[in-house]
Amino acid sequence: YNLVVLISGNGSNLQALIDASGTPALPNTRITHVISNRKAAYGLERAAKASIPTTYHNLVPFKRKHPQTEAGTTAARTEYDASLAALILGLEPRPDVIVCAGWMHILTPDFLNPIAAAGVKVINLHPALPGEFAGAGAIERAWEAGRSEGLKRTGVMIHEVIAEVDAGEAIVTREVELREGESLDELETRIHEVEHGLIVEGTRRTLEGIKK
Ligand code: GRF
Repeated sequence: YNLVVLISGNGSNLQALIDASGTPALPNTRITHVISNRKAAYGLERAAKASIPTTYHNLVPFKRKHPQTEAGTTAARTEYDASLAALILGLEPRPDVIVCAGWMHILTPDFLNPIAAAGVKVINLHPALPGEFAGAGAIERAWEAGRSEGLKRTGVMIHEVIAEVDAGEAIVTREVELREGESLDELETRIHEVEHGLIVEGTRRTLEGIKK
């Protein structure tokens, strides 16, 4: 199987996929390309170290072609997303699954439609449980809810990507209990540990669902 991984930052989840690919945790699977929307993403280094081809897909050139208005921004994002889909569908070999691993850019139908039409699945890691804390800063919001509302647990999920943010069908979820008096850093560390296991598990289940 062939994976393309989208990242925006540190890439510790990408690293988990790199380490697992080709092992019993993720058999006969390789990452064929890594794409980042941020030039400085350390995950690009991780890919290079693993001899995985990388692309920095930059939004700025698309923004420059349009006025700094709401309509202009929408047009720029439409072109950016369509261009990202074309880039991925032009890869040889074409991926079976696209994994969003710490990817901080909302994917619109301009990306999702051509990708789905080509039969390629898109899955995403989100550090919350289905229906909870959608969007950015999910871990911090759960930590806050633990302190202020007595929330007992949060969690992590891998889900199918649809146009609505962090709302697609869950593939695998894992609960993480909230601990009295724990710092945000400590919770983040525990959650990232869970993420690293779940991203491999979620990818494996998705690939198993694809008859090759
Ligand atoms: C995850 O919690 C992700 O949701 C958030 O940052 C973490 C991914 O980190 N954007 P990494 O880039 O995989 O290390």
